[in-house]
Amino acid sequence: MTKYRAVLIGGGSIADKNHIPALKQLSERVDIVAVCSRDGGKARALADRHGIPHAFSDAEEMFRTVGPDVMVNCTPNNLHYPFTTMALEYGCHVLCEKPPAISAHEARDMADRAKSRGRVLAYNLQLRQAAEWALLMRCREEGRLGEIYHIKAHFLRRRGIPGWGYFTDRAVQGGGSLMDLGVHVLDLALCAMDYAQPDRILANAYDFIGKTGGKGLMGSWDPTKFGVEDACMAYLSFPNNASIMLSTSFALNTQADRDRNLEVFGSRGGARLFPFVLHAELAGELADVHFPYLEEEDIQLKNTAAFLDACDGKPSNVCTAEEGAILQAVVEQIYQAAGR
Ligand SMILES: NC(=O)c1ccc[n+]([C@@H]2O[C@H](COP(=O)([O-])OP(=O)(O)OC[C@H]3O[C@@H](n4cnc5c(N)ncnc54)[C@H](O)[C@@H]3O)[C@@H](O)[C@H]2O)c1
Repeated sequence: MTKYRAVLIGGGSIADKNHIPALKQLSERVDIVAVCSRDGGKARALADRHGIPHAFSDAEEMFRTVGPDVMVNCTPNNLHYPFTTMALEYGCHVLCEKPPAISAHEARDMADRAKSRGRVLAYNLQLRQAAEWALLMRCREEGRLGEIYHIKAHFLRRRGIPGWGYFTDRAVQGGGSLMDLGVHVLDLALCAMDYAQPDRILANAYDFIGKTGGKGLMGSWDPTKFGVEDACMAYLSFPNNASIMLSTSFALNTQADRDRNLEVFGSRGGARLFPFVLHAELAGELADVHFPYLEEEDIQLKNTAAFLDACDGKPSNVCTAEEGAILQAVVEQIYQAAGR
């Protein structure tokens, strides 16, 4: 098994709290050799805190100096494309944060470049590592769901417009709740449909609350600078007559502060993901099967390990470059259908 030399670009929250701890736990498979962030002082401080030898503020200099074979892209959405393509040109495998990019064209180009360079490009859609998701996939393989023909997927926040960062800046983020939250559950829903591509999409996007302002549960935002959608609802129809209903929001006048789930409807059975319940017909009766002993997974650790498995050429369920390109194309089609 190859031991990889990894670098990270972007030294913010996801690098500090998710990726670096996961990579450190996988120290038999990977060494973190450097981190690069816009602010060299902050990069050095992050490196020192985690015992990482090198820190840079210039990515090209980092690639030339340390010659890594893995790069983890933890930068804002609009920098996923330039830094991922740069890393691929330097011969790295890349684990890139979600969403894949801010346009379908970028995500397609990233996948093509990874393929032509013979490198793994994968996306950090870590809900794929949830125990509930693995159970759903086992139920599907065992034929307990039959043919999946409809999925309701939602990722909603009541007043969760972040009062920090670039979440309301379309130029940096590429979009709002769909781009930031919706991609997680859309990826799962598409996965359950073997990443088929929809042929019809109806969608609406809104910004009533975002542009008006009001009480926030994740800090306060500036409504005069609110440039993305605060909610986006879409209906996707597939050539085989299957369908997905997707709802996402940063802000929506609803009860729960945060609500994220998938409901899967099949010809033999159905399931809700969180907490997992199988809706089935048993011994001639309708039954709801619960799984009280399902153990929670460290989904970031498992996704980083799944990415390294892919780099090793082993089977892996990490979101691939091809899937990411389709995901980004569907996101773009949803925005187009919503007139955005
Ligand atoms: N998978 C998940 O569940 C999840 C959760 C949170 C964030 N994310 C994604 O992770 C990415 C980063 O999010 P975050 O919350 O860590 O943001 P953040 O703002 O905390 O960190 C971004 C980092 O990138 C650095 N950066 C900006 N421009 C740069 C440049 N030109 N060169 C080098 N570094 C630069 C910043 O200095 C900062 O350290 C986003 O794409 C976000 O969507 C994913």
